[in-house]
Order: sequence, then C-alpha cells, then structure tokens
Amino acid sequence: MPDLDLILQSLEALAEREGDPAPVIYARLFAAHPELEALFVMDTDGGVRGSMLQQSFDCLIDVAEGGALAPVILGAERVNHGTYGVPENMFDAFFTTIRDCVKAAMGTEWTAEFDGAWSRLLARTEALADA
Ligand code: HEM
Repeated sequence: MPDLDLILQSLEALAEREGDPAPVIYARLFAAHPELEALFVMDTDGGVRGSMLQQSFDCLIDVAEGGALAPVILGAERVNHGTYGVPENMFDAFFTTIRDCVKAAMGTEWTAEFDGAWSRLLARTEALADA
C-alpha cells in the first residue's frame, strides 16, 4: 500500500478509537516532557492545544501528499514558537508523540508497513521543521 494510504488509514484508526485524540496526545507529550505543560497554563479550555494539534495533522498529511503547505506552516510556526519559549527540537518530539499515539491506538493492527510509512513521514517532516 502507498505511504499516503497507510498514513491516512492509521490517522482514521486513531480518530475512530479515541474520538478527540487531543487528551491522549498531550498526556503522552507531557509525560515525556513535563516541563512543557506549564507553557499551556493560559489555555484553560484546551482551544490552543486543539488548533495546534489540528495544524500538526494538516502538516503531516500535507507532507504525506507531497504538498507545498507544510514547509510554509512549519517555517512560520518555528518563528512563532521561538517567541513562546519552545525549544526547536520539540517539534520533532510532538510529531513523534502523534505517531506513538497512533501506534498505541492501533494495537495489533499496527504492522511493519505502518511503521515504515510513519518513519519515512517523520524523517521528511522533521527535515522541514529543522530547515
Ligand atoms: C512540543 C512541541 C510544541 C510546543 C511545546 C508548542 C507550544 C505552543 C504554545 C505554548 C502555544 C500557545 C502560545 C500562546 O498563545 O501564547 C502554541 C500555539 C500554537 N502552536 Fe504550538 N507547540 C509545539 C508544536 C507545534 C507544532 C508542531 C505546530 C504546527 C505544525 C504548532 C502550531 C501551533 C499553532 C497553530 C498555535 C496557535 C494556536 C491558537 O492560538 O489557536 N505547534 N504552541
């Protein structure tokens, strides 16, 4: 199966299993990087975390599709996040956290095929995020 189909299928599986995936994704992110939680104290209704996650999904799908959007978004957000005090390598951590939650949600349905597609996608996304 092409990588794009594997990525879309696995993201659908995440949405089916979790409904709103934001709680599991941020729980996993803050477990691995507890210092990040304090950055979101002003986000009392979770709105910022929700739109940040949506933007991240849009980037991942755009990279999987070979689109032109992700380099623009990631370039702009890298600058914005510098002013929020977010270390640059944290973008990689966020995308990896999304992959880990997809993998956990899929359980035994996660195969080497999905693993390969996500490894390639993360490598390409992180190359753009660091550019
Ligand atoms: C671990 C990695 C990240 C951390 C710790 C982080 C942190 C933050 C924080 C603290 C804010 C709120 C800033 C404020 O309003 O004062 C924010 C907003 C935002 N972030 Fe991130 N960010 C991360 C990764 C990303 C990534 C990868 C993207 C997109 C590809 C992204 C997109 C956004 C967007 C679009 C907003 C504005 C949301 C809104 O106000 O509606 N972030 N981020």
